[in-house]
Amino acid sequence: MGKNNMSILSKPVLRAASILGLFSFIGIGLVSLTHSVTEDRIIENERQFITKTLREIVPNNLHDNDFLNSSVQVSDPLLAPDNRPVTLYKAFKNNELIAIIASPLSADGYNGSIKLLVAIKKDGSLLGVRVVSHHETPGLGDGIESHKSDWIYSFNGLSLQQPPLSGWAVKRDGGQFDQFTGATITPRAIVKAVLNTLKYYQANRALLTDANNE
Ligand SMILES: Cc1cc2nc3c(=O)[nH]c(=O)nc-3n(C[C@H](O)[C@H](O)[C@H](O)COP(=O)(O)O)c2cc1C
Repeated sequence: MGKNNMSILSKPVLRAASILGLFSFIGIGLVSLTHSVTEDRIIENERQFITKTLREIVPNNLHDNDFLNSSVQVSDPLLAPDNRPVTLYKAFKNNELIAIIASPLSADGYNGSIKLLVAIKKDGSLLGVRVVSHHETPGLGDGIESHKSDWIYSFNGLSLQQPPLSGWAVKRDGGQFDQFTGATITPRAIVKAVLNTLKYYQANRALLTDANNE
């Protein structure tokens, strides 16, 4: 009798459990599919932004190699935390290095990581800096974007010598870079990341300027 009761009860329970399991399975599948499609789109958008920005910072008349399609990956604590690989492009003209463009990652943003493009001319001066991605607060920390403010252009032409090292900080810390109203952490992170990229270039200059390593 007890056994019969159990088998009568277990059928609807089993059916309900199977339906629930099936819906969970479909739900998980849909969520992972959406996640992967969204992630692919983010990666593709970022790739397009990098291509457009690189063409803007290093225009065609400055180089004669297809540097967009010949990047290398490097790891250095000056460029990204945790030995994370960073993309490095090298623009050449007549077999001579014109500029390197690194894509350093700062972990010092208010809301986490900030990815940059830092273009340095062979002589060690900055051709341009742009922000590729960030999670800073809209209206507070997003003045680092070139279409929101001119702040990022304040790096143009600067180098490790000009200004001297003491100038490589926001004004609140005694340096020459403006902070934003109510937001010092974001610009501080960018200044540090750009300075570290210049230090990386100086430390690796011989290798990076070697045309044989194109
Ligand atoms: C909700 C919220 C969001 C914030 N977002 C940022 C931000 O994106 N970037 C930033 O530099 N500061 C941001 N701040 C302000 C910082 O907490 C900090 O007060 C400011 O950067 C000044 O720092 P300092 O006084 O140490 O120079 C935010 C504050 C709050 C409450």
